[in-house]
Amino acid sequence: MIAVTGATGQLGRLVIEALLKKVPAERIIAAVRSPEKAADLAAKGITVRKADYSQPDTLLSAFGGVEKLLLISGSEVGQREAQHQAVINAAKSAGVRFIAYTSLLHADSSPLGLGVEHRATEAQLEASGIPYALLRNGWYTENYAASIAPALTHHAFIGAAGEGRIASAARRDYAEAAAEVISRDDQAGKIYELAGDDSYTLAEFAAEIARQSGEQVEYVNLAEAEFAAALKGAGLPDGLAEMLADSDKGASQGGLFDDSHSLSRLTGRATTPYQEVIKATLAK
Ligand SMILES: NC(=O)c1ccc[n+]([C@@H]2O[C@H](COP(=O)([O-])OP(=O)(O)OC[C@H]3O[C@@H](n4cnc5c(N)ncnc54)[C@H](OP(=O)(O)O)[C@@H]3O)[C@@H](O)[C@H]2O)c1
Repeated sequence: MIAVTGATGQLGRLVIEALLKKVPAERIIAAVRSPEKAADLAAKGITVRKADYSQPDTLLSAFGGVEKLLLISGSEVGQREAQHQAVINAAKSAGVRFIAYTSLLHADSSPLGLGVEHRATEAQLEASGIPYALLRNGWYTENYAASIAPALTHHAFIGAAGEGRIASAARRDYAEAAAEVISRDDQAGKIYELAGDDSYTLAEFAAEIARQSGEQVEYVNLAEAEFAAALKGAGLPDGLAEMLADSDKGASQGGLFDDSHSLSRLTGRATTPYQEVIKATLAK
C-alpha cells in the first residue's frame, strides 16, 4: 500500500491523479486531515483515512499496513518541524518501509527562511532509520499567478528577487515526479533537486505578462522590507507577506535556480513553460 498525506491539497490531488495512472486505486491510501474533503477520492476506490499532523493517534492508525509513504510537507509554517516528526514517528511505529518527502530545492544550502523546517525534517528522516528519498521541490510557477491581476491593474509587477533566476515548474510537474518516485522501487537514498527546465528573472516574467496581455507591465524591484510592507498593504497576513519577501530575497541570491533537469528526467517530459502558466491565468 502507498499512502499519500495532504492528498486533498493542490499538489496532493495532482499526485493522486498521476498515481492512479501507475497503480490500482486499491493500493492507494489518501491520509488526510479532513476526510470529508476526500469523498471524490473514495469514490474512485481509494482508501481514505484521517491523518492530522497535529494529532499523532490519527497518524498511527492511518499508516497501518502502509509500505510506502509520500509525506507532503504541511502548510502551517512554524509548526511543521513538530508535525513532520509526529508523522515520521508514527510511520516508524507502523512499520512503514520507505518515505518520500517533499522538501525544498537545495534545502541543505538554501538561503530561503523556509529551508529551516525542511532541513529539520530531512534530519529527522535520517535519524529515523527509515529508508527515504528527498523530493526537493523548487518554486511552483503558480505562486506568481495571484500577482498577475494586480500587475495588470497597476502596470507593475512587484518583487524583491532582483536579477535572481527562478527555475520554477508547474505543480503538476512536481506531482508527476512524486508519483514516479513513490511508485518505483530502489528509491532509498535518492535526493532529487527538482526545478523547471527553463528559468527567468521577474523582469522577464513581467515582460511576458505584458507581451501576452498587450498591457504595459514593468517589473519593480523593491527592498525586502518594502516588498513585505506592500504585500501586507494588499491584505496578506503578516507571516505570509514576510515569508514571500524573504523567499524573493533568497531568489535574488540564486536560491530558486537549478539547471540539473532532474524533474524532466523523472517525468520523461519537459517541464511546463512559465509562459503557459501565464496564458492559463490570463484566460481565467
Ligand atoms: N514549492 C512551492 O512553491 C510551494 C508553495 C507552497 C507550498 N509548498 C509546500 O508544498 C506543500 C503542498 O503544496 P500545495 O500547493 O498542495 O499546498 P496546499 O494546497 O496548501 O495543501 C497543503 C496540504 O497540507 C495539508 N495539511 C496542512 N496542515 C495539515 C495537518 N495539520 N495535518 C494534515 N494535513 C495537513 C492540507 O490539508 P487540508 O486539505 O485539510 O487543508 C493540504 O492537503 C505545502 O503544504 C507546502 O509545504 C510549496
